[in-house]
This record gives sequence, structure tokens and C-alpha cells, in this order.
Amino acid sequence: MHLLPTICTLLIVISATFVGFGWYHILKGNRATHRKLMLWGAASALLFFLLYVGRTIFVGNTSFGGPENIKTAYLIFLLCHIMLATTAGVFGIVTLLHAFNARFAKHKKIGRWTAVMWLLTAPTGVVVYVLLYIMYPGGDTKPVIDAIMGW
Ligand code: HEM
Repeated sequence: MHLLPTICTLLIVISATFVGFGWYHILKGNRATHRKLMLWGAASALLFFLLYVGRTIFVGNTSFGGPENIKTAYLIFLLCHIMLATTAGVFGIVTLLHAFNARFAKHKKIGRWTAVMWLLTAPTGVVVYVLLYIMYPGGDTKPVIDAIMGW
């Protein structure tokens, strides 16, 4: 059982589902529903982030346990996923700040990018999860704190 990675992946999928429906509702003109769904999307993304950082520090990151000949392709894919997720996270904060300050023209412009990036982060995250834990047995897991402290 890879409980934390499974929960983290589910949270990304749930968050992207909220964002997808939130976008749909603003296109229909339902502002209140849009607000509610996007805030739930942001909350589940935040929970994912906290669990992910906690796991990285105290449990560790798992290395790829699949065949050597696809390891480089996996690492490039992982890097794309991480860059996408990080950029989407930063864009998400800016999108929310524009919304809270009623700068809706700016919010709308950047919000589209945020939503697209987050909708791509979720499926790429699922692919990483499948490659790391389902298709192949995961490699070593080493906490960052061990590496920092030299334990
Ligand atoms: C990270 C969370 C959010 C994302 C990703 C997001 C995304 C978007 C997107 C993509 C649009 C434009 C839809 C389109 O025309 O294609 C939009 C519009 C809008 N959003 Fe959000 N939104 C978020 C949170 C919020 C929140 C919390 C509020 C309320 C405080 C809000 C209020 C609005 C309003 C009022 C519009 C319509 C703007 C207009 O038509 O001028 N959004 N949002």
C-alpha cells in the first residue's frame, strides 16, 4: 500500500475536477457556484501540497523502480509534471488574489491559464503515480531530512 502517494494523487484529481466544473459554471454565468467550486479546488490543492511536502521531508521521495531504458524518459516526464504543477500553483495564488480584490478582468485572463495548467497537472500526475507504483515496484524512499542531516 502506498497510502500517502495514493491520497496525494486522488487530491490532485479531485482538485482538477472542482476546477473543471468551476470553469463550466462561470461560463454559464453562475458566479456563486464558480466561487464555491474554485475555493474547494484550491483547498484540495493546498491539502495535496501540505501532504506532499510533509512526505518529502519525513518519509521521502521514491525513485523509479522500472527498467533502466525508460528511466530517462520517466525523469523528463516527471520534471515536466513538477514544473507544470509548480507554475499552476503560483498562477493559482495570483488568480485567487485577483478574485478576492475584485480585479475580474485580470482574474479571467490569468484564470484560464491556471485552469488549463491544473487540468494538465492532474492527468500527468496520475501517469507518474501509475509508472512509479502500479506498473513497476517503487525504488528506494529516502527522506530529505536524512539527506540534509547526513543520517
Ligand atoms: C484558483 C481558483 C480560480 C480559478 C482557476 C478561476 C478561473 C476562472 C476562469 C478561467 C474564468 C474565466 C472563464 C472564461 O470566460 O473562460 C473566471 C472568471 C471569473 N471568476 Fe474565477 N477562478 C478562481 C477563483 C475565483 C474566486 C474565488 C472567485 C470569487 C471571489 C472568482 C470569481 C470569478 C468571476 C466573477 C469571474 C467572471 C469575470 C468576468 O466575466 O469578468 N473566481 N475564473
